[in-house]
Amino acid sequence: MKIGIIGSGYVGLVTGTCLAHLGHSVTCVDQDKAKIRTLKTGKIPFYEPGLMEMVLENVAAKRLFFTTEISRIVNHCEVLFICVNTPPKPNGAADLSFVETVAKQIAMHLRKYCLIVEKSTVPVETGEWVRQTIKRYIKKDMHFDVASNPEFLREGSAIHDFLQPDRIVIGVSSARAEKIFRTLYSPLKAPMIVTDIKSAELIKHAANSFLATKISFANAISRICDAVGADIEKVTLGMGLDPRIGKQFLKAGVGFVGSCFPKDVSAFLYISEKLGARFELLADVLRINDAQAKCFVEKIKNSMKTLRGKTVGVLGLAFKPDTDDMRCAPSIPIIQMFQKEGARVKAYDPQAAFKASSILKGVDYVDTPYEAGEGAHAIAVLTEWSEFLNLDWERLKKSMKGRFFFDGRNMFSPAEMKKRGFHYFSIGRPSA
Ligand SMILES: NC(=O)c1ccc[n+]([C@@H]2O[C@H](COP(=O)([O-])OP(=O)(O)OC[C@H]3O[C@@H](n4cnc5c(N)ncnc54)[C@H](O)[C@@H]3O)[C@@H](O)[C@H]2O)c1
Repeated sequence: MKIGIIGSGYVGLVTGTCLAHLGHSVTCVDQDKAKIRTLKTGKIPFYEPGLMEMVLENVAAKRLFFTTEISRIVNHCEVLFICVNTPPKPNGAADLSFVETVAKQIAMHLRKYCLIVEKSTVPVETGEWVRQTIKRYIKKDMHFDVASNPEFLREGSAIHDFLQPDRIVIGVSSARAEKIFRTLYSPLKAPMIVTDIKSAELIKHAANSFLATKISFANAISRICDAVGADIEKVTLGMGLDPRIGKQFLKAGVGFVGSCFPKDVSAFLYISEKLGARFELLADVLRINDAQAKCFVEKIKNSMKTLRGKTVGVLGLAFKPDTDDMRCAPSIPIIQMFQKEGARVKAYDPQAAFKASSILKGVDYVDTPYEAGEGAHAIAVLTEWSEFLNLDWERLKKSMKGRFFFDGRNMFSPAEMKKRGFHYFSIGRPSA
């Protein structure tokens, strides 16, 4: 099938490349000229394991193309995926201006039937609004379908998640649209949930909000653990082995972060209120989350007495491992709090230092974890990159001025870290 992808960021590029890999002919569009130039030279504008190789393979096979001109694809594609960003507005609502622009652009060029798919995460009833927007700007009255097909991929394992999904959710309003989706995804072995458009939109917001709630739940318990000297890892293990609860996302740390959870929970809360059904629980989920990074910095301040004049070596800047994405990374507020308290910060991240350098000023970005430790009074782990598990602890310790080690991701065993000679503090576990 001929597919057009509008918005070639994390979701659009992965979606387009994977659909090309499945044998479809895909053209990815982006308004960002530099991004398209990079893609045309065989590079990708962000880090995602395995993606560059897959892009090159599909470009060489003439199944994957890139352009900045949306007009070039609208009438050549049977399906158009809208994959643009839907960032948060200051009041928490999803900013749909990028989706609106794309809907207008599609309308201006549309001359024959096409299935227009919202892949971006959008609030319930956006599908109907997109349909009306296209109707308003379309040049000649004709039939088209709008559908919802929310994306559940995770950065860092995006290709696997796209090609081996737990489920494919499609929200459709016609048999024709459903048939197109069934053909499109026929190579994938996953249950397909076919529903109306509003339910599909709600599935995405509800799923992300539920996962965020599990994280805030674990974080709230971690504070009780801190207060009484209990161990959150044991508590969540004991809870999570109950299959009705499940172990995943029951992990205490510096909070839920990244480009999706904070904005999607806020947007869901906003739309629920607007619809007269305020989802109060989500307000608490966000409140617990907002306090988590502050609690971590408080713990560091209390342990070290003061941060003024101290050097902190930060390990990990990206919001999660295996990505260079810095959107809503906890390293941003935490490092800013370190700096406000008068600390000097040295930071190491295997992939995200370049992106971080345009956001966090006054930080020494270094090339190895050991350089981050040089002369540092404390280490703070903010992203759980697996390479941190196998550090040369003697080397790190010798280069440091102090022995404090603050683990914002509960990556290490307190007993092991004590044996290695550190004053080890983590989240919701007794210090060592
Ligand atoms: N990143 C994730 O892990 C993830 C997972 C699931 C869903 N989502 C959702 O998918 C959507 C996209 O997220 P992302 O992380 O890929 O964002 P992104 O910022 O990486 O990519 C969006 C792209 O759209 C482009 N764009 C904006 N307006 C355009 C226009 N008019 N024409 C052409 N291109 C345009 C931007 O230049 C950018 O390259 C969001 O709604 C997000 O919530 C993201």
